Amino acid sequence: MLQVLRDHIIEDMTAILEEWECAEVATTDPVEINEYTDEEKGLLATPVAFQLASELGRPPADIASDLAEAFRDRGPIEGIDTIETAGGYINFHIDEAFTTRTLEQILEEGSDYGVVEDTVESALFEFSSPNIAKPMHIGHLRNTVLGDVLGNVLAARGYDIVRDNHIGDWGVQFGHLLYEFEQADDTDRFEEKPIDYLLELYQRYGRQEAKLEEAGREDDVEQLRDTGREYFAALESGDAELRALWERFSEASRNRFDATYDRLDVDFDTWHGESFYVTESWTSQIREAAIDDGIAVETEDGAYVIPIYDDDLADVEDPTQADVRVAADPADSDDYETFVITKRDGTTTYGTRDLATIAYRIEQGYDELLYVVGSEQREYFQQLFAAARKLGYTDVRFTHVDYGLIDLPEGSMSTRAGRLITAEDVLDQVRENARSVVEENDPTLADETASEIAAGVALGTVRFENIAKRRTKNTTFDTEQATSLEGDTGPYVQYAATRGLNILLEADEIPAPSAVADQPFNEFDHQLAVELARYPLVLERCEERYDPAPLAQYLLDLARTFNKLYHENRVLDASQARDRRLVLVAATVEVFETAFEITGIPMLRKM
Ligand code: ARG
Repeated sequence: MLQVLRDHIIEDMTAILEEWECAEVATTDPVEINEYTDEEKGLLATPVAFQLASELGRPPADIASDLAEAFRDRGPIEGIDTIETAGGYINFHIDEAFTTRTLEQILEEGSDYGVVEDTVESALFEFSSPNIAKPMHIGHLRNTVLGDVLGNVLAARGYDIVRDNHIGDWGVQFGHLLYEFEQADDTDRFEEKPIDYLLELYQRYGRQEAKLEEAGREDDVEQLRDTGREYFAALESGDAELRALWERFSEASRNRFDATYDRLDVDFDTWHGESFYVTESWTSQIREAAIDDGIAVETEDGAYVIPIYDDDLADVEDPTQADVRVAADPADSDDYETFVITKRDGTTTYGTRDLATIAYRIEQGYDELLYVVGSEQREYFQQLFAAARKLGYTDVRFTHVDYGLIDLPEGSMSTRAGRLITAEDVLDQVRENARSVVEENDPTLADETASEIAAGVALGTVRFENIAKRRTKNTTFDTEQATSLEGDTGPYVQYAATRGLNILLEADEIPAPSAVADQPFNEFDHQLAVELARYPLVLERCEERYDPAPLAQYLLDLARTFNKLYHENRVLDASQARDRRLVLVAATVEVFETAFEITGIPMLRKM
């Protein structure tokens, strides 16, 4: 609905700018409608006067007031009450009828509010992707929650997505691990705590390597590494015994991941680990194609690489514009990077497996491939996409949805335990904090009820905290602060929603919005209604940025605005506006519910 209003404004704006002979401004720099940010601003606002300032050689404020005048001259826009300027901004304030229609729409559409019905695009959506034989760390936690929520956002925006957990289950490190396992005489410990044991084996390998390095025994270091490489080569060429052992590692890891995904309430459509593309021969196909087409070239020591030039990286965002260059001989030039697709011993690399994954995914016919992976792999992905384009994969969009580092305030290396703090440790900590918060808030709760609520608060905390910051920003997960009922937290938002829900449960029947439309709204009511109306725009913004952060921030705004209303107005006692306010609360709860579904924050009946 708001979109219709916005489109109308854009249409008028375009017509005015055409009259003014400034239409290019609007085409090269499309008219942007801002979302509501504070009371001064209308729900819709445009900064277009700023864009026109240099072209017209006049101050933005003057242009804005002329523009506003021109808008008014064009006659009323249905749904808009007043058009005002504030500095260079032009603000559009919605009218009462629009408010009523919005409330009607929300109550009618329920969880479809803000949702795009038609499929706009099909995408493979890769997220989480932890590595086997290790516990998940806090970075995987951020990835998993961010990915899951963004997946929900895209689904709501008409994307047909397949959620794929691209498990890191292949690579030379498993050669080392298999070797260590064969060497070890305490492998019976695997049964009991498989992942902890495998992690220990990794560390054994690392210690051995470090010791040899320290002693300056370079040859022995090389030999140790060679052994690992040999084991990996054997695994990759199908050695049955190693494969069987690897299967055990893999299965144990998947079980442990599953337990964490259960706690986070996350699901995938497929779990295609890196191994899948090796086993199903996608890696050998891609290597052959690259070599046969002369895209990959052999290096002196017998490896094969795809040279990536600076130019190749230029249009990563738009693969169809790629300038594909094939090097005859990488020695011709030195301004290139090499993307290794076969090591000198003939084994695959992380990059080979990613290219093979692309080949496979493209055969499934997606419009877009989305990768939720940390920012530290940014350059790698640019090269990967450039290599893929050289291989002819040009009619699919590649997107690396990168995100910043996450850490605990004290760092994720526990000095006390002398080990890395895992994602599970963080979840346990949050659960514990949530339990204290819940008990403090209501000491009369029965034990079981308190646990149940604490579980919901813990999930709300973890989900909110992992999407609250802009995804590219680094962030610190302060588990204590994040669980608090006060501040910019998940539980704060949950608490407001619970409050709303309980008002509804106390009330008898919710009247139809149109039947109570003449009851008077005060400024708090109006502000809340405006918040509700802007929800679809927020979802749209999340889609544009591939980032659920605006939704998290919106939930905070909604909770604050609702709390203000709650404190200023007595919802159920207010004689004059009682029914209309009840409608408002019902719509608010509906929007909370809808947004909670997308963010995976549980709605609690009691807190
Ligand atoms: N397993 C990797 C990690 O934990 C992330 C995989 C990213 N995805 C990819 N297609 N390369 O760091």
